[in-house]
Formats: sequence, C-alpha cells, structure tokens
Amino acid sequence: MAARAARARVRKNASSKAREIALLEWISIAIPCLNGLSAALLVTAFAAIRRGERERHRNLMLANLGVSIVFLVCYVIQVSSVGHKAFPGDDWVRVLFLTILTSHTILAVCLVPLVLRTFFLAIRQRFDEHRRIARITFPIWLYVSVTGVVIYWMVNHLRPYA
Ligand code: HEM
Repeated sequence: MAARAARARVRKNASSKAREIALLEWISIAIPCLNGLSAALLVTAFAAIRRGERERHRNLMLANLGVSIVFLVCYVIQVSSVGHKAFPGDDWVRVLFLTILTSHTILAVCLVPLVLRTFFLAIRQRFDEHRRIARITFPIWLYVSVTGVVIYWMVNHLRPYA
C-alpha cells in the first residue's frame, strides 16, 4: 500500500516537472516573439501618428504596453527559474555580444520611467510634452526590443554547438 502511494507520488512529481519544463521552453520562445511584436507595434504606431491617426496610435501603444507587461512576467519567470545563459567563446563576437547586452540592459532600465511618463502625459492629454519625451522614448524602446531579439538569436543560435 505504502509502496503504491510512493510510486504514485513519484509519477505525479515527474509529470509536474515535465509540465514545468514545457512551460519554460514555451517562455524561452515567447520572449523574443514578444520583443519582435513590440518592435512591430512601435513602428506601426509611429507611422500612424505621422499620418495623423491619433486613435490608431493610442490603440497600438496600449497594445504594446500589454505585450511589454506579458514580456516582463515571462522574463521574470525565466530568470528566476533558469537564470542567464552564458555566451560561449572568447573572441570579438563575444565582445560584440557583451556590448549589445550591456547597452540593452542599461537602456531597458532607463525605459521604465520614460514609458510611464510618456503614457502619463498622453493620458492627461498634455500632447506637446508627450511628443517631446516620446521622441526619446520611441527610439530607446525600439532599440531595446530589437536587441532583445538579437541577444536571443546570438545566445541560442549563433553558436549552438559551442
Ligand atoms: C509610451 C507610449 C507612447 C510612445 C512611445 C508614443 C510615441 C509618440 C511619438 C514619437 C509621437 C510624435 C510623433 C512625431 O514626431 O510627430 C507621438 C505623438 C502623439 N501621441 Fe504618442 N506615444 C505613446 C503613447 C500614446 C498614447 C497612449 C496616446 C493617447 C492617449 C498618444 C497620443 C499621441 C498624440 C495625440 C500625439 C500627437 C501629438 C501632437 O503632435 O500634438 N500617444 N507619440
């Protein structure tokens, strides 16, 4: 009786471990996809405001905020469960990788207050101030999103057998 219960416990643990691994694999693919989607939404929102389509611009930026929140949740889950993957090698490609990673990380931290302020000004309809700060927020956000995809590709696909 006790042995059967122990076997059932082992099976249950194994299947919850398998589910956890599947979720982490899904998250590791979702992260660069969300970064790419964020970059596409930014470019589309920018094009919309340039054409004077204010409502479309607002909706695309709100969608982008949603995508970025989902990204942040996925990122925190990934880092807290598997940490960071090291980039293999000891050459100029690694120096390039570290340069991209460092600039990406610093700008991502700066982005948080910039995004909040840009949204705040837009929601308060202080559009002159919004436009001024948005011209800083927009390129930084785009750089962080695009380099997010580049970093994922470098870590996972540039040297898969190293
Ligand atoms: C962090 C999110 C946002 C970013 C990065 C952003 C980006 C921008 C940029 C770059 C411009 C200036 C375009 C140009 O050079 O002519 C702009 C203008 C504008 N944005 Fe946003 N935007 C954001 C969120 C929003 C939201 C949520 C709204 C609506 C509630 C909005 C409404 C507007 C309007 C009405 C303008 C035109 C301002 C004017 O020319 O007087 N934006 N935005």
